[in-house]
Amino acid sequence: MSDTGTSTLPRIRLARPALDARELAVIGSVLESGMLVSGARVERFEQVVRERVGRAHAIAVANGTAALELAMRALDLGGHEVLVPALTWPSPAHAAALSGAKVALIDVDPSEWNLAVASTLARIRPETRAIVAIDQFGVPARVRELEAGLAARGRSDVVVIEDAACAIGSTLRDAGGGERACGAFGVVSTLSFHPRKVVTTGEGGMILTDDASLAARLRTLRNHGQREVGVFVEAGPNQRLTEMQAAMGLVQIEKLDEILARRRAIAARYREGLADLPLALQAHPEGSVVNEQTFGASLTRGDTHTRDRLVSLASEANVELGKLSYDLTSLASLDRFAPHEDAPVTRDRVARGFALPLHTAMSDSDVERVLATVRASTERALT
Ligand SMILES: Cc1ncc(COP(=O)(O)O)c(C=O)c1O
Repeated sequence: MSDTGTSTLPRIRLARPALDARELAVIGSVLESGMLVSGARVERFEQVVRERVGRAHAIAVANGTAALELAMRALDLGGHEVLVPALTWPSPAHAAALSGAKVALIDVDPSEWNLAVASTLARIRPETRAIVAIDQFGVPARVRELEAGLAARGRSDVVVIEDAACAIGSTLRDAGGGERACGAFGVVSTLSFHPRKVVTTGEGGMILTDDASLAARLRTLRNHGQREVGVFVEAGPNQRLTEMQAAMGLVQIEKLDEILARRRAIAARYREGLADLPLALQAHPEGSVVNEQTFGASLTRGDTHTRDRLVSLASEANVELGKLSYDLTSLASLDRFAPHEDAPVTRDRVARGFALPLHTAMSDSDVERVLATVRASTERALT
């Protein structure tokens, strides 16, 4: 652990994967087996994740970005318009651009920081064919409401892709009262197992769907476009997950409930301890249980310099805060694909937002230290 601040206390990092000797042991057994790709562990990992999420098919891939790219290719979105929320990591918009689609960036809801159902429906045009519903920071997007709005407008040709990269373990209650896991919404959904996520395989991702023919095409696509050994039916990339990663993923899924319980306890204490500060926190839709992948806060006073000062004051006290996310309307990489978009809510969250450390290696006293540091740094940054 590096001590970059002026404090003598150990540095509390923003994120840290929940790993121990169990992951090391299973990776060792894969190496001993000599079977490193496309084996039983990948199949078992797919089965465990699809059962946990409640989907008929799961296709393990190399990362969450590849999951989105393959899903969009399999849906043949080239030449059509795809709506993507502007507050996020660039992957969903890059994936749409790489699959030949036109990207339209949409602003997010000011309280939930996910797509706003009414304004998203209002933005749909005749050429729109897909909407990416991102469960940003693990908070479920309102996919069922979006789908009901599409049906009411007679737009069953518009598919919803759930980007649940951050959201394994989060759930949302249906109108009928049943619980549905993130990763089980939309025609197809995607997960990421990057180390910043709640469970990790180093790099890794999963595509989930209930549509058997889409699943078959995705299996072909991820494996060089090879439908069966030696039968190449379309030009496809190699986006397979390794056996080492799948073995690690199986251990991580076994730990998921324990990880979620600790993350939720820390987040609950943060909510209580930050209540009187000039900070807006991400609201959770009614009936949701969130995995607390990222605990974000956004200053309700001051500007982006105030936020930067807050982050650097906390860093001096050896508490690592992160910037919240990106405003995709400002990225040069998307200039050509999504020109002239404006997303004021996103811009404000990105300018004044930050993320607090949250991981299972944090002790209760670390949590209190983060709270005290955020309080002192916010007060100083605002004066
Ligand atoms: C919302 C969202 N989608 C997609 C991704 C891409 O996942 P990966 O890093 O596994 O490619 C991320 C990663 O941070 C993300 O936050």
